[in-house]
Amino acid sequence: MGKKIKKIGVMTSGGDAPGMNAAIRAVVRACSYYNVECVGVYRGYQGLIEGDFVELKARSVSNIINLGGTILKSARSKEFMTKEGRKKAHENLINAQIDALVLIGGDGTFTGGMVFNEEYNFPCIGVPGTIDNDIFGTNYTIGYDTALNTVVEVIDKIRDTASSHNRLFFVEVMGRDAGFIALNAGVGAGAEEILIPEEDLGLDRLLESLKRSKRSGKSSSIVVVAEGDKIGKNVFELANYVEANLPQYEVRVSVLGHMQRGGSPSCFDRVLASRLGVRSVELLLDGKTNLMVGLVNNNIVTTDLEHAVKGHHEINKELLRVSDIMSI
Ligand code: F6P
Repeated sequence: MGKKIKKIGVMTSGGDAPGMNAAIRAVVRACSYYNVECVGVYRGYQGLIEGDFVELKARSVSNIINLGGTILKSARSKEFMTKEGRKKAHENLINAQIDALVLIGGDGTFTGGMVFNEEYNFPCIGVPGTIDNDIFGTNYTIGYDTALNTVVEVIDKIRDTASSHNRLFFVEVMGRDAGFIALNAGVGAGAEEILIPEEDLGLDRLLESLKRSKRSGKSSSIVVVAEGDKIGKNVFELANYVEANLPQYEVRVSVLGHMQRGGSPSCFDRVLASRLGVRSVELLLDGKTNLMVGLVNNNIVTTDLEHAVKGHHEINKELLRVSDIMSI
């Protein structure tokens, strides 16, 4: 039986995601509900190293459920990757009498938590927050649904201008290592082709498909490209290649970039964040550690941080087939 938890720290780390504030709010309010103190750590692991803490009470998190970004700020700390950095972080936690941590972020965040737990046996629970949805142990990460809706809304707008000018648009979306956003937003926005890191569809196939689109009477087309798509060309190189090989197309490129990480979270992300945040506190109070909370088949489940980091969240390849059929 570990030490009784009286004070919980909460932080956001890595790339921000809409819904992180809703998760912070859930952690703070759950602490208050269970009569446990709560402390916010600014700028993720960097704030831990610098002792940049703020006391959070139930009312400190009023009116943030609807806000994008993270009130606690986020960072990727190089110093925390060193033993000295982690030692400072641990000292600060002990001095502030913080007994456990809720870590909201992606696999980099969880790797930090795992190492910290290993070295100092410090109780940590992970809450998956990233727009990429690339975490094993949960069907959805906080922020992903909002990002999908943002991307679909923007592609709808691009479709208007693509159609007015009879153009082919390459739209680059986020996803350095994962095609969840590209695949789902691509199907949702009716893209002709979707290029993702998990599958090499090949340049020949792309050209063939675009030729077929023209022959079938389409006047405009949209190709969604994930940042890390497997063909290995960036979106501008792809556009140049297609323009050189298919002069009948007038090609344009739109890189959506960080707008995908901002904005007010969707209802789905707010509910997900509230559920995961509450459970993370309950797990710590039950003496659990080194786990990530996730949503599988609409149930809250836990996964070892190690599995969450090392496991692979598979994309649904059926969507590629559906996309093929839809883009006939
Ligand atoms: O949040 C995840 C992610 O959006 C990736 O898809 C992307 O490659 C990366 O973050 C870029 O983030 P940053 O500009 O913060 O390094």
